[in-house]
Amino acid sequence: MYGNDFPGTDDAPGGGLLGQVEAAEEALRRAAERGRPDGPAPGDDLQAYFDEVIAADQKIEPRDWMPEAYRKTLIRQIAQHAHSEIIGMQPEGNWISRAPSLKRKAILLAKVQDEAGHGLYLYAAAETLGITRDELVELLLAGRQKYSSIFNYPTLSWADVGAIGWLVDGAAIVNQVPLCRCSYGPYARAMIRVCKEESFHQRQGYEILHTLSHGTPAQKAMAQDAIDRWWYPSLAMFGPPDGDSTHSAQSMAWKIKRFSNDELRQRFVDMCVQQAEILGLTLPDPDLRWNEDRQAYDYTQPDYDELMRVIKGDGPCNRERMTHRRRAHADGAWVREAAAAYAAKRAAERERVAA
Ligand SMILES: [Fe+2]
Ligand SMILES: [Fe+2]
Repeated sequence: MYGNDFPGTDDAPGGGLLGQVEAAEEALRRAAERGRPDGPAPGDDLQAYFDEVIAADQKIEPRDWMPEAYRKTLIRQIAQHAHSEIIGMQPEGNWISRAPSLKRKAILLAKVQDEAGHGLYLYAAAETLGITRDELVELLLAGRQKYSSIFNYPTLSWADVGAIGWLVDGAAIVNQVPLCRCSYGPYARAMIRVCKEESFHQRQGYEILHTLSHGTPAQKAMAQDAIDRWWYPSLAMFGPPDGDSTHSAQSMAWKIKRFSNDELRQRFVDMCVQQAEILGLTLPDPDLRWNEDRQAYDYTQPDYDELMRVIKGDGPCNRERMTHRRRAHADGAWVREAAAAYAAKRAAERERVAA
């Protein structure tokens, strides 16, 4: 299961997910070479310059003037994304000590560590908007900022680690590849790095499921059960249907978002069908079928009432995740204090040398 074995992704030249990430990186480089529109000169209309930069598909950078609502939208979105990476370590971390072999354990450890790294890139990107990581963490712990609802579902078997990699990281990457072209520079650049690693996450999950689905009947059944439980929550990761999505239109105009929730959800479904066939497993949707007119699969929508319940705090693991996160934050206090004391000592030393 290595090499170009992942239909609809790596084997589609330039059109696969990694191909799209590379194209976005190339576009970023070309845009930097082209340079941004001149200005703004003193007395210029700052909003007009902001609009011009966005229209030219150039990046807004931290020192640029930006509308307050643009800044707030980005802080909310990047923070939610960062929190998701960190909380998302919990469901899989739960299986590190029980991975079925040393090799599996090493791979899972690396994957969960990647998620911590993603959280750090993203907190750093959010900090460029004038908020500190401490403030963001406080907002999360106070329940005033959210993380992705998908992480409020439990991981009941080893196959869930496979299903999370394939479906949850898969949905994340479909969502995030267009963010590599987001109009805010630090977010776009963080997303390029993140997406390259997400592609490894998706493959590691797929490979776990492939091994199980080609193993004993009990292993195959375990893989099927995991997919049955994770399919609809993964579809719900794309958010409410377009008609009910509150932030979409403005985010599209600002080129933070490039495709609607429903467009991305459809892209994900179309990608998964063929991959499920190779696994020899079934997506739990009796109405899933190819629509010749639309050139896409018809599928059953996830239960959005359930999504709203989980967002509001009533998912199977909401309390457990936040309790664990609070405890981890409290347990880490000595590390933060030690780092701050060390930084202060270094600063004092530099001052002494400079004096
Ligand atoms: Fe991640
Ligand atoms: Fe991931």
